[in-house]
Amino acid sequence: MNNNPIGILDSGVGGLTVLKAIAKELPDESFVYIGDSANTPYGSKSKEEICARTSKLVDFLISKQVKLIVVACNSSTVSCLEELRKEYPDMPFIGTVPVIKTAAAVSKNRRIGVLSTTTTAKSDYQKRLIEEFASDCTVFSHGSDDLVPLIERGKERSEEMTHVLTKVLKPFQEEGIDALVLGCTHFPFVEDQMQDIMGKDVQLLDSGGAIARQVRRVLEQNNSLAGEHPQTISIFTTGSIDIPKKLLQDTFGNKAVEYGTYAYEYNN
Ligand code: DGL
Repeated sequence: MNNNPIGILDSGVGGLTVLKAIAKELPDESFVYIGDSANTPYGSKSKEEICARTSKLVDFLISKQVKLIVVACNSSTVSCLEELRKEYPDMPFIGTVPVIKTAAAVSKNRRIGVLSTTTTAKSDYQKRLIEEFASDCTVFSHGSDDLVPLIERGKERSEEMTHVLTKVLKPFQEEGIDALVLGCTHFPFVEDQMQDIMGKDVQLLDSGGAIARQVRRVLEQNNSLAGEHPQTISIFTTGSIDIPKKLLQDTFGNKAVEYGTYAYEYNN
């Protein structure tokens, strides 16, 4: 048994969709979340910069005595998960990658789409997932860095968002896919709008549930699930706390959620 919190990090507010999934699977755990909203999006940054910034977030979570870290960011996972595991050998890490295996399992017409940030779309990590799990499917992969900044600005239900989504999703519609992988943890915040555009015959698949089940498995294996304890939920951001507050509205019912800001130094 271990009552220390689970740490979750992302380039911004996207990992909150993963936090929600984990909190649903493991409602008695405590959590510390850090989103790097001041420096988002990561998708258009170099691998070196993504890794350096992700390490800063890991150090912050370690300073909060977390027992496990969820890298709730596809861009960070494909850029530096392996390095993080080497750099912090005593910390269990769980990464986030597009659920291509699930898409291949559910697609009936064997035509699947993967929408992610450009970093994830170009990554060898994603290419390997496609080769390993979807070699019998035609896979349309597309990276866009236009959606994350809008979600970061709280514009998930705006005309601007509808315009960008319509443009970004058009190629997938033209290719006649029947499963669309959301390869960025920000995207579930606009899942309803995506579903409206793609139509009900296209299944949208995000990573939250799979990550939550993996967190449970790892904590069980390590005998680290929380027992009875005063639960704490702390949300930190390098940006403004208004957007995470809005996005988490109603998520935790009457449980107390603490919000705070954090700044770190980054030198090129
Ligand atoms: N939520 C991050 C992800 O899953 C967004 C990355 C970015 O900031 O570009 O990749």
